[in-house]
Amino acid sequence: MSDTPKKLFIKTYGCQMNVYDSERMAEALGAEGYVTTETAEEADMVLLNTCHIREKAAEKVYSDLGRLRPLKQAKPDLKIGVAGCVAQAEGEEIIRRMPMVDLVVGPQAYHRLPDLIRAKGRAVDTEFPAEDKFDHLPERKAMRGPSAFLTVQEGCDKFCAFCVVPYTRGAEVSRPVDRILREARDLVSRGVREITLLGQNVNAYHGEGEGGTWGLGRLIRALAEIDGLARIRYTTSHPNDMDDDLIAAHGDVPALMPYLHLPVQSGSDRILKAMNRKHTAESYLRLIDRIRAARPDILLTSDFIVGFPGETDRDFEDTMDLIRAVGFGAAFSFKYSARPGTPAAERAPVDSQVADDRLQALQALITEQQRRVQAAMVGREVGVLYEKAGRLPGQMVGKSDHLHAVHVEDTAGRVGELVRVRISASAPNSLAGQRLS
Ligand code: 5AD
Ligand code: SF4
Repeated sequence: MSDTPKKLFIKTYGCQMNVYDSERMAEALGAEGYVTTETAEEADMVLLNTCHIREKAAEKVYSDLGRLRPLKQAKPDLKIGVAGCVAQAEGEEIIRRMPMVDLVVGPQAYHRLPDLIRAKGRAVDTEFPAEDKFDHLPERKAMRGPSAFLTVQEGCDKFCAFCVVPYTRGAEVSRPVDRILREARDLVSRGVREITLLGQNVNAYHGEGEGGTWGLGRLIRALAEIDGLARIRYTTSHPNDMDDDLIAAHGDVPALMPYLHLPVQSGSDRILKAMNRKHTAESYLRLIDRIRAARPDILLTSDFIVGFPGETDRDFEDTMDLIRAVGFGAAFSFKYSARPGTPAAERAPVDSQVADDRLQALQALITEQQRRVQAAMVGREVGVLYEKAGRLPGQMVGKSDHLHAVHVEDTAGRVGELVRVRISASAPNSLAGQRLS
């Protein structure tokens, strides 16, 4: 290790777990003398933490690598690494197609980054090692804001017909309860007030704890006992894993925020079956009723795929009906993208223009619902956790209990404060309000 710190630039694509992983990779490399920097130009190492979920995301990696080529030519010592789900899925291809890449590391092997860096020649590690990467990573030390992610579960055993996750992230694994509680306490001791529990299938959490296997509801109840931890969230969930205890927790754990992202993907039973979702539109709606019975003011969001192979106008209308029936606060929607190795990729695609038109119609409906849900917040009192100063003087910005961005008039506000706010106005993507008391 040299005395002058080497500079590391990480670019993160895709989901929140990649954000978490990037932070942990930066810390693993920090132990090797690297400090993070904001631009690739001044870096000694560039690490792309990639996403494979849709074709566009995966292709972006190759075009970004192409753009790094002149940098590498000007500075042959520059190390270029590819991490994340594209690394996992296309590791060998990356090495073949992209001679400037020095190392490739999958999402379950990144604790071995320090060894890979020291390796002579180009290195690939896309194993699913038997050891737990979290046991081999340095403790989390980064300076942070009041809100943090914490991975509790990884991987997926559901095998939805469109999805690469079971292949890139591997089988479902839950971290033991004591490690999670320790990481959470440590975060809180360094000023964190809100923790978002992460997992590809987070509500399928089944970790070893005192007295046996714990579900997510029990884990949330234990986390809620931590002094100073004001808010708990979790993402992403599958409808079939919303068990009674977790639903009940939404009613009786005040720290569990009234917000739930619950992807449904489609409102057509025919398409849900073809997607291998193992639930129906009706069972989803009944589940929403039970969740709302536990927590009437919960804000619901979802994911949708349009243009899945075989989707007819009628199927699409069923999706629109489901959206109308639920009233989502927001949603992510995607045009189906055929992914290599998944069962649906073998099926005949829907006409691309038809899929585009459906996507536009669906997004217009969601935007309208989002507007309505936000407008209904006006006049209400909510909690807001300040994340930063606003652009205007005397203004703070934070997230409400329902995860709305809120601009608050507050000349004395400090980052990390959790305050009561009266909502006074709703803009397309945020709310405004005044601090109470
Ligand atoms: N095409 C389009 N969208 C997809 N998603 C997952 N796989 C695909 C695919 N092949 C979407 C799903 C999922 C979200 C994370 O990405 O809606 O919930
Ligand atoms: Fe992918 Fe989610 Fe289905 Fe798992 S549950 S296969 S992560 S869409």
